[in-house]
Amino acid sequence: MESLEWSKLPFGYHKTKVNVRCFYRDGKWSEPEISDSEYLPIHISATSLHYGQAAFEGLKAYRGVKGDVRLFRWQENAARLRSSARGLFMPEVPDDLFFTCVKTAVLENIDYLPPYGTGATLYIRPLLIGIGPEIGVKPANEYAFIVFVTPVGPYFKEGFNPVKIAIVRDSDRAAPLGTGNIKVGGNYAASLRGMLKAHEAGYSAAMYLDSKYKKFIDEIGAANFFGIKSNTYVTPYSSSILPSITNKSLQVLAKDLGMKVEVRPTPFEELPTFEEVGACGTAAIITPIGEIVDLDTGEKFIFCPDGKPGKYSKMLYEKLMGIQFGTEEDKFNWITVIG
Ligand SMILES: Cc1ncc(COP(=O)(O)O)c(C=O)c1O
Repeated sequence: MESLEWSKLPFGYHKTKVNVRCFYRDGKWSEPEISDSEYLPIHISATSLHYGQAAFEGLKAYRGVKGDVRLFRWQENAARLRSSARGLFMPEVPDDLFFTCVKTAVLENIDYLPPYGTGATLYIRPLLIGIGPEIGVKPANEYAFIVFVTPVGPYFKEGFNPVKIAIVRDSDRAAPLGTGNIKVGGNYAASLRGMLKAHEAGYSAAMYLDSKYKKFIDEIGAANFFGIKSNTYVTPYSSSILPSITNKSLQVLAKDLGMKVEVRPTPFEELPTFEEVGACGTAAIITPIGEIVDLDTGEKFIFCPDGKPGKYSKMLYEKLMGIQFGTEEDKFNWITVIG
């Protein structure tokens, strides 16, 4: 294979050797197949193309400090994909099939797993789509489950340095009783308008407020929000937020570090009271936020005045990364070693 400059990788697609595919037909899943094609022939009337029957996941494989191949909380991704499948009336992918496909995709592409210490990881993308043809709006009768991998660098080019975020009010990512709490393609299509608006204004990502009242913080692009004050980790509760596995893990780590944890509706007016704020997710890890601007009112909230991440964000970041890469004890049993 070609040589890769691991420490310069962007967060983007890079071709690897193979991917893994299963098909759901006549009420059952096929055995996984390994394919060296990056393409999937698909019926022009497939429900995923027309009616959005498409869900996905995102997790990473880490090359540990001792050279082992580590997955972080894959069971949570498998459970979230099952929840997304139920939300779009697709068949659930059983956990053992999910694990087999993820493990096979990683180990078959092991040359693409970035070495320890490069800051890069192998991003794993499981995808579940309706491939059966329909023209009336209804669930398909055939589905594909595909797992591919791609080596990635940091999601935000700033890495573990403060980013600037813009509150966007003139588009909604998800409705309160819609699909925001599951990981489905349509949410990301709906988020493009706000994302591009934020980028055009010179900001790294859009912050979405709740769609109904425009009062509470929902999410930041493809990451959850957290704020820290008085030794307390605060993260929004909302029916339209994707439950982030990173956020869930940070709550456990925060408690373990002696902090309090509050999961509750978080009005954006509370922003000035936070000592530190950040975005968290598999791709974003912990990304400290240095500035949040309200694009409509021009109001600005400034954090990290010295340009550096706050001490709590740093502590949580180091704990999380330590567990993922094996420099910290895996005391919550979050890691599965697959090689
Ligand atoms: C909308 C959205 N919110 C939050 C997250 C973070 O979730 P996780 O920590 O499970 O990656 C993601 C990424 O998966 C996302 O797409």
